[in-house]
Amino acid sequence: MSTQDDKDQVTRQDRLIEHSYDGIQEYDNPMPRWWLLTFAGTILFAVIYLLNVGPVGNGKGRIADYEDDLKTFANAHPTPTGAVSANKLLAMVKDRKERHEGEELFKKYCVSCHRMDAGGLIGPNLTDNAWIHGGQVTDIYTTVMNGVLEKGMPAWSTMLETEEVEQVVAYVASLQGSNPANPKAPQGTPVTP
Ligand code: HEC
Repeated sequence: MSTQDDKDQVTRQDRLIEHSYDGIQEYDNPMPRWWLLTFAGTILFAVIYLLNVGPVGNGKGRIADYEDDLKTFANAHPTPTGAVSANKLLAMVKDRKERHEGEELFKKYCVSCHRMDAGGLIGPNLTDNAWIHGGQVTDIYTTVMNGVLEKGMPAWSTMLETEEVEQVVAYVASLQGSNPANPKAPQGTPVTP
């Protein structure tokens, strides 16, 4: 702080403001200049930010910014078309390597609700032949992709790559009839694969 500032501070501080509330009087104690400049700076930044110009945004406005982000996200996570090939999934069920990848994914993302052995916890038992949303591989794929949001089953299309969903579905399908101990009671209708 310069000496000029210091001196200003002293003389300003000494100035008693006229008014008196409940017998209390105040000194005129203004904010220091560096503070006021910072404050003005934030207002200036807010205006620049609002108008989305120059280095702060892409210059096209915040809505365009947001839509750009959405597009980038959608490209990275394509929504399922439902056009998954049952034959491809069934081949993956038989493929040890794909099943193994699926198992790793299952352990990472699904066990918290479906249990380590898929016997069911918050989510249903995935090893029995009763299915709420259909038990064909393509049905399982659709359920995993879209989730059942109102029941607490997340939509994995937004979190996993399509290939990863296929792998985890292949793993789930391979667990049919694995009979884990203490399974959750069957939910849904029995399906013959
Ligand atoms: C936050 C908890 C949660 C997680 C994590 C979760 N699920 Fe689920 N899942 C559920 C619930 C709850 C249901 C039952 C939905 C219903 O009642 O309609 C369900 C249902 C399912 C179904 C349909 C079962 C049927 O009977 O039709 C499949 C298949 C499934 N989950 C697979 C998975 C896979 C694979 C993962 C991991 C990638 C996973 N879930 C992760 C909660 C979860």
